[in-house]
Amino acid sequence: MTSTDATAVRSMPAPLGTDPRLPRLANIPAFAEYMSQGWGTPDRTPRVVAGAAAAAGEHRARASEAFRGQTLVIGAGTAPVRSNDTYYDFRPDSDFYWLTGAPIDGAVLVMAPSAAGHDSALYIPAPFYADNPEFFTNAAQGEMWVGSAPDFSDWAEALALPVKPLAELDAGITAAMRPGSATLGAGILPAGLAARHGIDAGAVLGRELSTLRMVKDPWEIAQLREAVDHTVEGFAAVLAEVPTAISGRGERWLQGTFDRHARAYGNGVGYATIVGSGKHAPTLHWVRCDGPVLEDQVLLLDMGVETNSFYTADVTRTFPGSGTFSPIQRQVHDLVEKSHRAGLAQVGPGKYFADFHQACMEVIANGLHDWGLLPVSVDEALSPKGQHHRRYLVCGVGHHLGLDCHDCAQSSYESYQGAAMVPGMVLTVEPGLYFHEHDLTVPPELRGIGVRLEDDIVVTSAGSDVISDALPLDAAGIEAWMKWAQQTPGSR
Ligand code: GLY
Ligand code: MN
Repeated sequence: MTSTDATAVRSMPAPLGTDPRLPRLANIPAFAEYMSQGWGTPDRTPRVVAGAAAAAGEHRARASEAFRGQTLVIGAGTAPVRSNDTYYDFRPDSDFYWLTGAPIDGAVLVMAPSAAGHDSALYIPAPFYADNPEFFTNAAQGEMWVGSAPDFSDWAEALALPVKPLAELDAGITAAMRPGSATLGAGILPAGLAARHGIDAGAVLGRELSTLRMVKDPWEIAQLREAVDHTVEGFAAVLAEVPTAISGRGERWLQGTFDRHARAYGNGVGYATIVGSGKHAPTLHWVRCDGPVLEDQVLLLDMGVETNSFYTADVTRTFPGSGTFSPIQRQVHDLVEKSHRAGLAQVGPGKYFADFHQACMEVIANGLHDWGLLPVSVDEALSPKGQHHRRYLVCGVGHHLGLDCHDCAQSSYESYQGAAMVPGMVLTVEPGLYFHEHDLTVPPELRGIGVRLEDDIVVTSAGSDVISDALPLDAAGIEAWMKWAQQTPGSR
């Protein structure tokens, strides 16, 4: 379907001709009059996840505390263009969602300084109902095009926030600005807005929001648990399809299986699904997923369901295509498991981000040395001037997790890589070993083996909680879980 007979809202092709068989509906008064009548009221309940508005209110209070006296403007962004006038689904900017709980395309949050902290207001594009011809001509906001559209008061009630028309945004920002104090912007702002108001849309606000977002509240942790639980089910669903993939459908079939699962049980995938069989397993972000699935090779699955509240899991396991690891595959898996367990032991309050990184790397470097793969000593490899072991592990071995897969990435080095962990943080630990098929430094039997183990971990006051531990870590457990998933329809 195209919007060629709509008055242009997004891109408009060449003007329609005068052929009477192709009338422009908006230009027909009788049609517009007819369309304005005879409609009931659809259910316009806003899509706000239970608990999201209350959590966002708490998040605004934290942001307010950090930016006393400063005006804050945070944009949701808009649905990205796929090609020409077709769009991907809208997914709000993460900072914006954290502060509002609102999945509203084109919305902007303004936080105006007040005596008590800040007064917040949300500006959203006006929906068009039957009393306006844009009801049927506006492909972006017309209810005939986009489905039932809550009005300002519907959103205000659901979000516990004042909600106003986007047309009033400029006046709202002007009224919120304070002389002598910078107005700070974050998220994705409408084109031209920052320049018009002199908003500092650089890193200041985005960096602080990233830092604040590192510590999750109980509602956010519940969302992440839900994401992980659905992801584990998705692993089972994918494993059940491995025989079909091996028989010819390949990696695409498994990618499609997980993506369908993610859409059915959440909003969708939290990042592009990685399905790598054989020589693709060592490719860190193998999102092409267009190869065969081979029975005698390992199969690396890195997958995450994103909830309807936009929190994502990020979990990786590596399986033997046949159901049983070969001795060399198992040897690699065992070393990665050892590294992973060493890393997990270094996640907890007061531990530093670098601690689990170092723990993972020490195991990997020692193991590679024992296998005769390091051209230098373990100490030389682990020194900042060596790092030879990283040839087989060039990526990081963990990151913060939340609304984004690589969460809180705008934060400063001191607050992220250089910081100690505190309860409420959620991290991944994900060591791996990646032997590329064309890496001539390793013996032929290792080439084409890639193994990664990735778990999602909540830092608690008592230590840590591995929320993805429904999936086993050890090779025998992986084999048994794979067999169970393939033989137990109820597992998914
Ligand atoms: N699982 C994707 C990543 O961490 O890069
Ligand atoms: Mn990850």
